[in-house]
Amino acid sequence: MPEKSSPSPLRVALLGCGVVGTEVARGILQNPIDLAARVGAPVELAGIAVRSVDAVRVTDDGFVIPSELLTTDAEALVDRADVVVEVMGGIEPARTLIGRALEAGAAVVTANKALLAERGPELFEAADQAGVDLLFEAAVAGAIPIVRPIRESLAGDHVRRVLGIVNGTTNFVLDKMTTEGVELDQAVKEAQALGYAEADPTADVDGFDAAAKAAILASLAFHTRVALKDVAREGIRGVTAADVAWAKRTGHVIKLLAVAEVIGPVDDGDISVRVHPALVPDDHPLAAVRGAFNAVFVEADGAGPLMFYGQGAGGRPTASAVLGDVVSAARRRLTGGKGVRESKGQAFPVLPAEAAITRFQVRLAIADRPGVLAQVAGVLAEHGVSIDTVRQTSSHTEDQSGIANLVITTHAAREASLRATVDAVARLEPVRQIISVLRVEGS
Ligand code: HSE
Repeated sequence: MPEKSSPSPLRVALLGCGVVGTEVARGILQNPIDLAARVGAPVELAGIAVRSVDAVRVTDDGFVIPSELLTTDAEALVDRADVVVEVMGGIEPARTLIGRALEAGAAVVTANKALLAERGPELFEAADQAGVDLLFEAAVAGAIPIVRPIRESLAGDHVRRVLGIVNGTTNFVLDKMTTEGVELDQAVKEAQALGYAEADPTADVDGFDAAAKAAILASLAFHTRVALKDVAREGIRGVTAADVAWAKRTGHVIKLLAVAEVIGPVDDGDISVRVHPALVPDDHPLAAVRGAFNAVFVEADGAGPLMFYGQGAGGRPTASAVLGDVVSAARRRLTGGKGVRESKGQAFPVLPAEAAITRFQVRLAIADRPGVLAQVAGVLAEHGVSIDTVRQTSSHTEDQSGIANLVITTHAAREASLRATVDAVARLEPVRQIISVLRVEGS
């Protein structure tokens, strides 16, 4: 009997060799037998494109990347690959290299959320034209399998809402503020010391990273296209230790949430996509997400509530998601199958920020005398904003005598009505200060 010829190796080109890239390289180089068994053919790391070949690339625990794999000629590397893995980040040259790979018929795996959120439609179109996979499990919430479950497992259901803690740095910061009562600056410094936050923490603290992930999650969940510019974004810079303490007193915890939801009929509604700090009730599963962990809570018509939890960043966790996509793309390559294209079904209008509907908690300082509470309540009523709970605490300190703290939690209201209400309340003579306005989600 003639011997069965063994399948030729699938060549993987790795673009980028930072924290994630080194771990992806290790995953391919250290487990060739496992990988070949899972794919059905050997998987070969054809090379790693880097800016400079001089530096020694090594994982946190000392696995040294063979220097002969490093090259500065990314284009030549892409041209000889079956699967291109992009973990370099940024828009260029990642976009051009991915475009080149797709055009040449290679499958692409990327962890680049910013690129997908900004230029996703053109890349998906190119992948569709070429009939190849463009996979991106690692782009949202690191190790957590969330892209494939929403894209595939829930493709026969209707997702109504996604609430995600998708930025580990801000979750760490808010958790520190909650457990230790420190102010934001102090918590950010601790996050920097532990390597969670960058020296310039803007991308995390101001919600840009979470907004890119929100755009991707909304596009997947609603089979539509949501770009980064469609996401209303507010970071955590305004959150104070007092806000966190008040959240606790009212049975909540403050989280930076990515929210994507359908408003109106699930198959013909508008969608709202936003990132902002929110009060989450203590008994909601997202309230239990501590430290730098991520979680995504999905509400679907058929499936009901689902929660996905795990590590959202870091070399090995992110590489786990990348390697899963590499195996998936390599398997399809081996069977000669076409890549799975993105849904093209719907084009839901994305609502402007002021049309979003949420519950709010407004904390204000008022003069503590007869009729003031009724006055404030009257303004809410005039604007059609319904009150859920009111909590008043009088201050007994000498310098603040006669001042009461009022915490009003509303039923669901439009953002625009709420803003108009808060402006009108602020103009009332007995109102000394609007201390904070926070959205309430998950109740
Ligand atoms: N900086 C992100 C985070 C990880 O803190 O979750 C990469 O998206």
